[in-house]
Amino acid sequence: MTLTIDHRPEAPSGPPKLGPAELRRAQQETLDTPRMNYSLLATMMFKPVDLLYGRQGSFTKFAMLEIIARVPYQAWERMGYWAVHRHAGRSALATRIFERIVEARADQDNEQWHLLIMQDLVQRHGHRQTWLLHKAAPWLIAFFYYHVSWVLFLVRPDWSYRLNAEFEDHAEHEYMTFVADNPHLELTPDPGTYAEQYGRHGSVADLLRQIGHDERTHKLDSLESMREPRVR
Ligand SMILES: [Fe+2]
Ligand SMILES: [Fe+2]
Repeated sequence: MTLTIDHRPEAPSGPPKLGPAELRRAQQETLDTPRMNYSLLATMMFKPVDLLYGRQGSFTKFAMLEIIARVPYQAWERMGYWAVHRHAGRSALATRIFERIVEARADQDNEQWHLLIMQDLVQRHGHRQTWLLHKAAPWLIAFFYYHVSWVLFLVRPDWSYRLNAEFEDHAEHEYMTFVADNPHLELTPDPGTYAEQYGRHGSVADLLRQIGHDERTHKLDSLESMREPRVR
């Protein structure tokens, strides 16, 4: 006998893709909104990043930030599987936890496309990357962030979500400010290397605005999760 599954939680398709006018509006909203008050932990990551990669945005700095951006979602996914295993006897609860895992995986995928797009822009523009600054340092920061994320999630999940919301808020502002400071990007065509997976925009400016808007969506999701940090 063949069994069919009518419904299974599929990975959400990621944050919505916006048209050019909506992207400009989104950028203006970000620029008009003050940054969140960053915690000491967040500042401990942002300061060295500014010191090593410069205060101004750049494709190399963004590529580095995107390596780190996936980390909390990986940590939450891992903690989610641990919780599913722990509550395996309570099917409704295990299903709700699994939905959070699916969300965390979708956000990781979205960050992965950001990373690949940034890396592609770095290469196309011939920017130099060094092993120390663009391999070793991001790995070290990601290592620190990963362990902070899961330990926080274990003791105070709302703090772990808050830390990620701050990280996403920082990324959103960095992208939108970079586009505002570099008007030539309006005339640089989106190379569309990952068009099939991520979509294609009219210019690199719009591509970066879209990524900035994704970061805002991630931030809002984390702020939402803060309201119900423990799945019950
Ligand atoms: Fe990102
Ligand atoms: Fe993000």
